[in-house]
Amino acid sequence: QIAGPCSMVMFGVTGDLARKKLIPAIYDLANRGLLPPGFSLVGFARRDWENQDFAQVVYDSAKAHARTPFRQEVWDQLAAGFRFVSGDFDDDEAYEHLRETVEELDAERGTRGNHAFYLSIPPGFFPTVIGQLSKHGLADQHDESWRRVVIEKPFGHDLASAKELNAIASEVFPPEAVFRIDHYLGKETVQNILAFRFANGLFEPVWNANYVDHVQITMAEDIGIGGRAGYYDGIGAARDVIQNHLLQLMALVAMEEPVSFSARALRIEKQKILSSVRLPARLDEHTVRGQYAPGWASGEKVAGYLEEKDISARSTTETYAAIRLDIETRRWAGVPFYLRTGKRLGRRVTEVAVVFKRAPHLPFEATAVEELGQNALVMRIQPDEGVTLRFGAKVPGTAMEIRDVNMDFAYGGAFVESSPEAYERLILDVLLGDPPLFPRHEEVELAWRILDPIIDFWHQHGKPDQYPSGTWGPSSADEMLARDGRTWRRP
Ligand code: BG6
Repeated sequence: QIAGPCSMVMFGVTGDLARKKLIPAIYDLANRGLLPPGFSLVGFARRDWENQDFAQVVYDSAKAHARTPFRQEVWDQLAAGFRFVSGDFDDDEAYEHLRETVEELDAERGTRGNHAFYLSIPPGFFPTVIGQLSKHGLADQHDESWRRVVIEKPFGHDLASAKELNAIASEVFPPEAVFRIDHYLGKETVQNILAFRFANGLFEPVWNANYVDHVQITMAEDIGIGGRAGYYDGIGAARDVIQNHLLQLMALVAMEEPVSFSARALRIEKQKILSSVRLPARLDEHTVRGQYAPGWASGEKVAGYLEEKDISARSTTETYAAIRLDIETRRWAGVPFYLRTGKRLGRRVTEVAVVFKRAPHLPFEATAVEELGQNALVMRIQPDEGVTLRFGAKVPGTAMEIRDVNMDFAYGGAFVESSPEAYERLILDVLLGDPPLFPRHEEVELAWRILDPIIDFWHQHGKPDQYPSGTWGPSSADEMLARDGRTWRRP
């Protein structure tokens, strides 16, 4: 579906996210013919730029990071709608200039008063920018046109700040005009979790406590914090990705079938899961946090977190977190969900592994099944997108011996279609006003309710455990699973 006439105003257009993801996604959407002909992009930032300087930055980032090939005619049409407004986030004059600019575009390029405001800025500025949009009439809702705001994470740093932020946004924009970005929901493989579960007859009958032993959700990265010390330090792994990406993944894996694929129906089911989460009775035994020490990444020696630029040598920010959560519903009674994430781990991989109970009886000699593990269904979110089913098979030969094998589905082998980047899908959905892939404030708040007590506990008790870069996290994480008689998968 092609978006109708509109413009997008991007705050924080000089930032990393805009350059690497947002602008290339806009170019790719244009190239795929999914943007309206008069689509206009207005950059707002402190730089003292003219329109041409902005156009050059957009050009460079589209050239460097877009997925689709460069086409001059697409570029020319898109570039005719580039404008730049220079100013501080609290500068009244700049917002007046912004208002004139979008109104001119309405007349010149037919964007018809439909404006999306994308806030790719440090969260501390959200209230200022939202307040200024309101003050200068940029957020006014009209019957015949729309105004929407797009908010990048983090949505607050705890429940109280998230509530405050939601209150500020809802004073200015109605709930259906607020789009909170969790880019994991834009990923093809994440959307496939619902297709996999609810479009097939085969899996749902065993998707419950009768058959499932536990679930492991892993988001591992090999990179360190790079140049993001200012954002990351004091935030840490749990707030950065568990509060949003991992809890959303858990909700999609655990939720009941929605009555439809409307935003409302999905939200209702996800909320039920998030509100049935029970924290471990002993947070010291079933949560772990770690911090990367010097070690290796891609064959090179790398510094530890505490030696990274702009990080205090006494920082207690976690770069690794592992948490056990239980979901108190009939479907999941007694089935732990283990969530873990970390930077500078062995390799980059995100996956959801549903690990099944062993067969109730094995009519084989003990020696025949020495190499038989538990059956597992692994949804490979990235980078090697697909699904693996692991089960035992007889090893060819004269003796009865059973060993684990994998049955694989890989996107590359099964589809000729290519996946759009997560941001392409999400930006298009904002312009279409299609909300199912955006978490609402209720979900955001429920996720903070889960994490706040854990983070508070961590702050009151000790420091993160060190782990060498390039390994799979601190040994305390292995001990945490061993306590439950389980082990982490090595993806
Ligand atoms: C972001 C986090 O939300 O997700 C980053 O802030 C992280 O710290 C990134 O690196 C990972 O995204 P992806 O799509 O590469 O898994």
